[in-house]
Amino acid sequence: MNGISAPAPVTGLPARYFTDMQVFARARENIFFRTWQYACHAGEVANAGDFVAFTLFDQDLFVMRGDDGAIGAFYNVCRHRGHKLLEGSGNRRAIICPYHAWRYDRAGKLRAAPHSDAVAGFARENIALHRVRVEEFLGFVFVNLDADAKPLGECYPGVREALLELCPGIDSMLPAHEFSANEECNWLIAVENYNECYHCKTAHPDFADGVIDAASYSIAPFGGGRCLRHRARANAGGNAWYPMSGKKYGSFYLWPATAIQVYPGGVLNAYCWRPLGVDETEVRRLWFSPDGAVDAELQKLIALDRDRTFAEDLQLVKNVQRGVRSRGFAPGPLIINPDGGIDDESPVAALHEWMRAAVD
Ligand code: FES
Ligand SMILES: [Fe+2]
Repeated sequence: MNGISAPAPVTGLPARYFTDMQVFARARENIFFRTWQYACHAGEVANAGDFVAFTLFDQDLFVMRGDDGAIGAFYNVCRHRGHKLLEGSGNRRAIICPYHAWRYDRAGKLRAAPHSDAVAGFARENIALHRVRVEEFLGFVFVNLDADAKPLGECYPGVREALLELCPGIDSMLPAHEFSANEECNWLIAVENYNECYHCKTAHPDFADGVIDAASYSIAPFGGGRCLRHRARANAGGNAWYPMSGKKYGSFYLWPATAIQVYPGGVLNAYCWRPLGVDETEVRRLWFSPDGAVDAELQKLIALDRDRTFAEDLQLVKNVQRGVRSRGFAPGPLIINPDGGIDDESPVAALHEWMRAAVD
């Protein structure tokens, strides 16, 4: 013994961060309602009047391309007595409430309200749908319920440039395929799992041998924002899922619930998580291509990813959620490797720091 005691290892978060309704409620208010959330891809609202409706916790929202060509985002709630206005996706010349037929234009302004002429002082011109902040980022449409939030580019500095370098043409790519699943876990367990590859060699042998060169994998905070950059060389071995020698893999996780990922050779894909409850999270798996088509090679890659990596993660996060509910659970030490690398869990520690800052 040299008399110098080693610092105690960093441990994970106590179970309540993944199981407690009050913590979940604080995450809703302090994280999800104040940060940028992926809504849809610009290619899904290409024309004036195209819309996509979606839900964030209990808040119904929609984005719609306006007559001026700009994408608007709105609360999906009528200014009369609150009925929901739009379901699913489609195109509308005007937004007509299904309850009493108030009619709004594509900019959310009230244009007609039946029999309102009978109401003295009814100021139609002062009534409009409530807007939500919206930004398009390389074709990805994000919304933010916080009117005072920083612009997206300031939240995640450098990501735009890094993605353009990794995937030239990213901003003109189109949605090609999407599927989703309900993960039986808290959203933070899902994004912790995404942001460490310590489990890759054990739990994703095909990914670790078919997409990336495991020895080169690293994940680290990027750009000074709440972003984690994943990087690796492409797998150059005989088990590669498609020809990819000499190309780079990279991903940018944007706190709290989006990851824009590029498989070697500029194959753009993404994850989007939406909490459904304290222990249930929807995960959307999105794939893009230059023309929105899925060729045979992409089809094979999507299927391999869905049936191996994605399916494997569904089981992992479900089992962790069950584990943190156990009376036998206590958070253990994280594997923090100062040299980084595939087995380093320091990105998980970064997520925990951001979580604590938001909910404690
Ligand atoms: S609630 Fe929409 S028109 Fe009445
Ligand atoms: Fe995984």
